[in-house]
Amino acid sequence: MKRFKDKVIVITGGASGIGKSAVSRFLRDGATVVIWDVNEAQGQDTLSEVRSNGSIADFMKVNTTNPEEVEQATLATIQKFGQIDVLINNAGITRDATIKKITYNEWQQVIDVNLTGVFNCTRSVIPQMIDKGYGRIINTSSVVGLYGNFGQVNYAATKSGVIGMTKTLAKELGKHNITVNAVAPGFIATEMVKTIPEKVINLMIDKTPLKRLGTPEDVANTYAFLASDEAAFISGAVISVDGAVTI
Ligand code: NAI
Repeated sequence: MKRFKDKVIVITGGASGIGKSAVSRFLRDGATVVIWDVNEAQGQDTLSEVRSNGSIADFMKVNTTNPEEVEQATLATIQKFGQIDVLINNAGITRDATIKKITYNEWQQVIDVNLTGVFNCTRSVIPQMIDKGYGRIINTSSVVGLYGNFGQVNYAATKSGVIGMTKTLAKELGKHNITVNAVAPGFIATEMVKTIPEKVINLMIDKTPLKRLGTPEDVANTYAFLASDEAAFISGAVISVDGAVTI
């Protein structure tokens, strides 16, 4: 089913992990997909992997923390593909440390990417969505943003912040037919999780009622639902994709 046939979808952090899986997913559904990612080598690898006959995918090297780069990418995307219908603010990093050990740099880097990056991209694509009277914005939060996590004061602050932004923008932009939602993944088997000790991962699996880690596809499927017409009346929501680990 090519349900995104006429849609142009920007996925930040689309070069790897969950974002990459989302790129494949939207391409399969007929969308034009533009990856905005800081990692050019990885982005190009991903493009050659996911492209297939007839699919339209592109990569733009963008550091989402830099408002000028984001603005240029918005203009370039619109110039090349005519519009941006869906923005998925998926790029994110971790720099884990407890409050006793965390450096200012570790705090600031995570704030810059996970919070300011979301703000930069959203602010940049909004005018065009308002003009068209259509838009879908999907922000990647985390269960950590809902419940906190030991050793992630910076990350938790950003992922809670993204929820505040989501609800505020849902209120501000609803009248323009723009929906804004957040997805809160639990532990998903990507590179990010590979930095976590195996003992901790096994503990997480044990605590998860569905008895497994999530997959990038689990999250990509939720992005796809929120971007679809079926989700037209959902806005300001935070959807957990966590195997019920948080209940
Ligand atoms: P990943 O590390 O596999 O991919 C992140 C991508 O973001 C990379 O391609 C990286 O180059 C890109 N990126 C980083 N900084 C950037 C910047 N300044 N500008 C542009 N691109 C940048 O991570 P993963 O696991 O796929 O995570 C995706 C999102 O899901 C993140 O927001 C993360 O916080 C969130 N998340 C992940 C969970 C997990 O268990 N993997 C759990 C909950 C949330």
